[in-house]
Amino acid sequence: MDYDIADISLAAEGEKRIEWAARRMPVLGLIRERFEKERPLEGLTIAATMHVTTETATLMRALQAGGASVSLCASNPLSTQNDVAAALAASGMSVYAIRGESSDTFYEHINAILDTNPDLVFDDGADTTTVLHKERAGQEVLGGLEETTTGVIRLRAMANEGVLRFPVVAVNDSHTKHLFDNKHGTGQSALDGIIRATNILLAGKTIVVVGYGDCGSGIALRAAGMGADVVVVEVDPIRALSAAMEGYRVLTAQDAASQGDIFITVTGNIHVLRGEHFSKMKDGAIIANAGHFDVELDLVSLAAMAEGEQREIRPNLEEYLMPDGSKILVVAQGRLVNLGAAEGHPADVMDMSFADQALAAEWLAQNGADMEPDVYVLPEALDREVARLKLDSMGAGLEQLTEEQINYLASWQEGT
Ligand code: ADE
Repeated sequence: MDYDIADISLAAEGEKRIEWAARRMPVLGLIRERFEKERPLEGLTIAATMHVTTETATLMRALQAGGASVSLCASNPLSTQNDVAAALAASGMSVYAIRGESSDTFYEHINAILDTNPDLVFDDGADTTTVLHKERAGQEVLGGLEETTTGVIRLRAMANEGVLRFPVVAVNDSHTKHLFDNKHGTGQSALDGIIRATNILLAGKTIVVVGYGDCGSGIALRAAGMGADVVVVEVDPIRALSAAMEGYRVLTAQDAASQGDIFITVTGNIHVLRGEHFSKMKDGAIIANAGHFDVELDLVSLAAMAEGEQREIRPNLEEYLMPDGSKILVVAQGRLVNLGAAEGHPADVMDMSFADQALAAEWLAQNGADMEPDVYVLPEALDREVARLKLDSMGAGLEQLTEEQINYLASWQEGT
């Protein structure tokens, strides 16, 4: 087996942490047990581009239990947990991921997993799917799976232009993924990253959340719960209105710039905080990004505005000195803060996202050959089954409809 990782001697540490995550992923555990018996992925080669975390390791092992041969590379240069990469490599998986790898190495690693000639491609941000379409025109793939909102937007653009070459399941769009992982996962883990990098008290601070989708609304909810005064910046009037009615102040980025103590971007768009905003920020303002790509903060402009070189004042925290003597602090180089400065979403919520991934792989293995190139969502029945299993694992009771209620819902004749 081939691999390119930081340090194989970290394997034992990684293995313990994977064991801890796996214990908190009961739904994926049930799927893994069934996969071991039924082997639905027998003979398939899977190439996965994902954040190399303990939760991803648990998913990769479930896929192997289903009979697949798996290779893995990182979906972000800064999100790899080197001990996890080591544990997977030591147990025989082809892993290509080094925390802090350069952009060239990042793409070399993507090409290494594509060289395995995969049947299924797991992607998180659509970089690997893009490489397949731009640089590997002749390579055939049975199907793809996409984990994140940003990647799904890219895939839909490819489908709309008629260039998508194979069916892709937008795993992100399953209810049991985006309503929980995006909201509660990002809500907790983005703040976790900021707290680990800064050790700052959130109570009493003004936190500006730029973007109020599933992820932004989760961050706002948890920041408010920690006692922060939350300001939301949003371009979509419906989302902005719901933020206002959920109790947050809604301001333009210009107006919020001078008020925030901490800024978190989570829009999926480019340069949402830029020079015109940096120049208005308070001394000591902290800026972080929780969106998939590191383009949301215009750090090139910030570096050009700042005096001299930035300095690392704490791990994952860089200080820029502004011409007026004030300082702006950037967390995790503007990369995904939850994975750059913390460990990503907790296993408890990744359990559902990765149960969806495993079921989507099985669905594609069974049906991919008959599906047109397009973007698909996981069948509703599978999505609901994942929710049911998660509720069971939490000891929750799900109420059942009576016969009378079923009939009532199906009838139109009973009125006032
Ligand atoms: N995305 C966000 N959190 C993650 C995690 N813990 N593992 C893999 N991908 C993630």
